[in-house]
Amino acid sequence: MPSIPSASRPVGDILLVALLPIATFIIGAGTEFSERLMTGAQRFERLQLDELPLALLTFSLGLAWFAWRRWREMLLELGKRREIEAALEAKQLELRSLSRRVTENLENERRAIAHELHDELGQSLNAIKIESVFIRNASGERGSMTHAAALSIIRLTDHVYSVVRDMTSRLRPVALDELGLAEALEHDLAKWRQRLPGIEFDFKADKLPERLDAPCAIALYRVAQEGMTNVVRHADARNVSLALTFHREPAVVSLSLRDDGRGVELRTIRSGLGLLGMRERIEALGGAFQLESQPARGFRLEASVPFAVGANAVGAA
Ligand SMILES: Nc1ncnc2c1ncn2[C@@H]1O[C@H](COP(=O)(O)OP(=O)(O)OP(=O)(O)O)[C@@H](O)[C@H]1O
Ligand SMILES: [Mg+2]
Repeated sequence: MPSIPSASRPVGDILLVALLPIATFIIGAGTEFSERLMTGAQRFERLQLDELPLALLTFSLGLAWFAWRRWREMLLELGKRREIEAALEAKQLELRSLSRRVTENLENERRAIAHELHDELGQSLNAIKIESVFIRNASGERGSMTHAAALSIIRLTDHVYSVVRDMTSRLRPVALDELGLAEALEHDLAKWRQRLPGIEFDFKADKLPERLDAPCAIALYRVAQEGMTNVVRHADARNVSLALTFHREPAVVSLSLRDDGRGVELRTIRSGLGLLGMRERIEALGGAFQLESQPARGFRLEASVPFAVGANAVGAA
């Protein structure tokens, strides 16, 4: 909200307006100014100069009235502006809480899908595998077609099972629920290290004093996930470092991800859903999201959320 000019200015103006006439009066009285003016004006009576002071007085009164009107109008405008600002702020809060609810629903939905996949599909795959093992054992000779088909079903089942496990862990990382944010990130980094041996990954995490509440942990986790995907897709980096830091005053948890890749001119990027989604998630929690990058100078993102401790907390470092 723009600040109102400091109080010292109007006070200074009022002092000036009060002191000027006093000073004029003292100087005028000392120099007999009006008398001299009158005597001088009488010589030019035909020009009616002696009427000038009265005309000037009316002119000053007019100016004072005009200033007073402008002052009233300004107060009215200021009031309207404040009303609009308050309405905007309320709308912003509403949007933030809506965005938070959408994110929560999304996470709940993901969790439900992960459970469904794990329970329903997992059980069915398990049953298929048991049946195929039974068929393989009952098929007798090794070279028979039934034996080969049973083996193929077992292999396929194992493959589908590992795909489902990967999907469920992406939908709802078990490590995040059970161990906490730092461990879940470390767990993911181990996978990235395996997949991308050409990149050096560094990870540091401060110890949090208590458990981080679930929405914060999930938001930071998703930011790291998307940030890491971006590094792999866009950065062409050799070194990537991820850090989780805790600031006590004010209590804030920050996640910082930086790479030494090709970077980008931030003003010109065509923002996809990734960066936008990260910002929305973090701002919905009252946090801050910042990007820093220049061509050939890497990319850095930092997400900070107020540290909140709650009943629905997930384990933290
Ligand atoms: N680590 C990075 N290094 C260099 N450029 C990056 C990096 N991360 C993001 N960018 C740039 O920012 C752009 C926007 O990223 P964002 O994640 O929003 O979208 P995206 O990755 O292109 O698509 P998606 O919606 O699938 O995430 C990218 O297209 C890329 O140009
Ligand atoms: Mg992306």
